[in-house]
Amino acid sequence: MIVGSIKEDLILEKRVSLTPETAKNIIGLGLKVCIEKDYASHLGIQDYDYKKVGVEIRASSNDVINSSKAIIKVNCPSENEISIYKENMILIGMFNPSKNKDRLNKIINKKIKIFSLELLPRITRAQSMDVLSSQSNLAGYRAVVDCVGEFEKAVPMMMTAAGTVPAAKVLVIGAGVAGLQAIATAKRLGAIVSATDVRAASKEQVESLGGKFLTVEQTENMETAGGYAKEASEEYKKKQAEMMKDALKKNDIVICTALIPGKPAPRILTEDLVKLMKPGSIVYDLAAEQGGNSAFSEAGKINTINGIKVIGVKSLMNRLPLTASNLYAKNLFSFIRNLYSKEKKDFNINLEDEIIEKSLLKEV
Ligand code: NAI
Repeated sequence: MIVGSIKEDLILEKRVSLTPETAKNIIGLGLKVCIEKDYASHLGIQDYDYKKVGVEIRASSNDVINSSKAIIKVNCPSENEISIYKENMILIGMFNPSKNKDRLNKIINKKIKIFSLELLPRITRAQSMDVLSSQSNLAGYRAVVDCVGEFEKAVPMMMTAAGTVPAAKVLVIGAGVAGLQAIATAKRLGAIVSATDVRAASKEQVESLGGKFLTVEQTENMETAGGYAKEASEEYKKKQAEMMKDALKKNDIVICTALIPGKPAPRILTEDLVKLMKPGSIVYDLAAEQGGNSAFSEAGKINTINGIKVIGVKSLMNRLPLTASNLYAKNLFSFIRNLYSKEKKDFNINLEDEIIEKSLLKEV
């Protein structure tokens, strides 16, 4: 039984789904592993590093696909790959079903089982496989690092003989996994941090990291049973915009992370609200690829309005691909360990297991 992995399109994706460490762990389960030549050399990991732990190196992606039962990937396969996949194969990755409907349906129609790990339930048993958390956490960290790089002032308060430098003020919109890491990272750098979220439960988490929670008074419960945010009502949006007016005038850096699963990102910062910020301020929109939390956000661009930089983030994981790959590969290993039966020496697609049932793509 062979698990294979092929190179991603390097222009779009620098992460890999298999590291020598996780290859070794997969081999330890009793599986074989093969990869395409020069699989991770762009990250400084050579074929030799994989060979040392028992990985077979194949000359081309076709060779890998033709000899594997399961393929592990980062992104949705290309049309060319799809034409090579055979019936009864298994594909595991982050396939973004709402964006890649046609391609994924083609694969399902070829009787290939697709596991898309963004669909995993947020339960304790699935935490080690939780790709959304592992990548969002890094996104929150990197967001702060990028903002500090763009910001033309110092972040921490400094008392010097030449005078006092005030601490920068950072506002985080959306206190999920990315938002909480952004709060923690900004605090570590000495910023004064505040945050807001529609979910009342996040207040305690923000405060435990030393952030100030900005509450929007509400009567409705804004959290789904799965712990995600519901779409805000018009009344909530009005109150939130009112609260933002004051916050935006005071803050130097605003990091936007608000998302609603399966929907476009909520538009929280209108043009008028953004324009309330001081020249030299930054809006860093992690939700830009999902439509953006802020007006003026465009994925992959920095737009400057009245001296305010609005950064629309695109492919952020390509800025720390080694750490992102290490964590993603570990998530994949945990998933494979749960899917593979050592006794049967085969993958066991047990639909009574919530982890397997929820992550298996039915028709998209
Ligand atoms: P996400 O990436 O879907 O959204 C980010 C944040 O934006 C969320 O906190 C959401 O409440 C907030 N948001 C949405 N609309 C907003 C608006 N209009 N204004 C302000 N904020 C808005 O969320 P993420 O990070 O995936 O977390 C979702 C839930 O999953 C959380 O409850 C989290 O605690 C839970 N979780 C559970 C895990 C587990 O293993 N048990 C692991 C990771 C997350």
